[in-house]
Amino acid sequence: MNSLATLSVRNLQTSLLQKKGPLNLVRGIDFEVMPGETLALVGESGSGKSLTALSIMRLLARNAQWQCQGEVLFKDNQGLEHNLLTLPEKTMRTLRGHRIAMIFQEPMTCLNPVITIGQQISESVSLHLGLDQSSANASALRALEQVEIPAAQQRFHEYPHQLSGGMRQRVMIAMAMICKPQLLIADEPTTALDVTIQAQILNLMARLQKDTGMSMLFITHNLGVVAHHAQRLAVMYAGQIVEQGSVADVFAHTQHPYTKGLLACLPGRARQLSRQTGQRVALLDIPGQAPSMAITPTGCSFAPRCHSCFEKCLQSLPEWRGLPAHTSLCHLEAHS
Ligand SMILES: Nc1ncnc2c1ncn2[C@@H]1O[C@H](COP(=O)(O)OP(=O)(O)O)[C@@H](O)[C@H]1O
Ligand SMILES: [Mg+2]
Repeated sequence: MNSLATLSVRNLQTSLLQKKGPLNLVRGIDFEVMPGETLALVGESGSGKSLTALSIMRLLARNAQWQCQGEVLFKDNQGLEHNLLTLPEKTMRTLRGHRIAMIFQEPMTCLNPVITIGQQISESVSLHLGLDQSSANASALRALEQVEIPAAQQRFHEYPHQLSGGMRQRVMIAMAMICKPQLLIADEPTTALDVTIQAQILNLMARLQKDTGMSMLFITHNLGVVAHHAQRLAVMYAGQIVEQGSVADVFAHTQHPYTKGLLACLPGRARQLSRQTGQRVALLDIPGQAPSMAITPTGCSFAPRCHSCFEKCLQSLPEWRGLPAHTSLCHLEAHS
């Protein structure tokens, strides 16, 4: 583990406590995000990406009982390390939205429909930075300009429903970025947007990251986006990380059959493989369904859907293979 990391997640386990016993939804994951780096967390829907983010932020839904175990170490700008899982809620509140910010797929879940967007941003900045009303307003207006909202002065006085989806996501980004967080967790921030707007928002985020040097945990199910916007990649399946490494390495020397399946689902990748092999590579979905989280498998949880599955995969849990810089949780020998 690298102690320079902005965020170190160690053996994080998140369970939903139910009468019939705990449902283990995040099953012991480890990763780090270095200063200024973007780590992409990818995987099919239901693999536990959002629960991972919400566990880190301590924002799991209050209508259920959760248990988080392990460590979530966050290094603040003074070099002090905090385990977010054990911090008092009051301290957590000073970090959340200030040092660590999060943006979601659907901005309406976070924006207050009856308060103007300018006022919402301005309240957030005065809360965390203790600015007076007029400085906070000026700062909020600058933030709207920074995220390239046209006619920001006029938009400042508008309500969330008056804005398009793309503009609302820009507002969310402005709100997240205004206190210059060290870490931004973005949970599928562009999934609800059309492709052109998606590209604009991603480019905007990349520019803001470059300007501020913040770290980013970028959650997506889109590996095409990862290729352009992340340096490292962690692939999640059924509550576990099954492959992790630099984006270049994982793309060029994919180890885990699940990651191979995800990559084969990419249109560009299928074309590239077709060119390399001279054969037509079908654009496919990974066959089968994600496993029920209620069942704890005796072997590898991907085994029932895996083309390379052999006896051992059904009988024992895989161990990490490969070098620390690129590892996969698989019984197959690491190969390129
Ligand atoms: N509040 C909840 N109650 C019960 N199950 C949940 C709840 N939230 C998430 N889950 C389950 O946890 C698993 C992971 O969910 P999630 O982290 O949202 O997946 P992802 O973000 O990768 O699509 C899913 O199987 C989902 O059904
Ligand atoms: Mg999700």
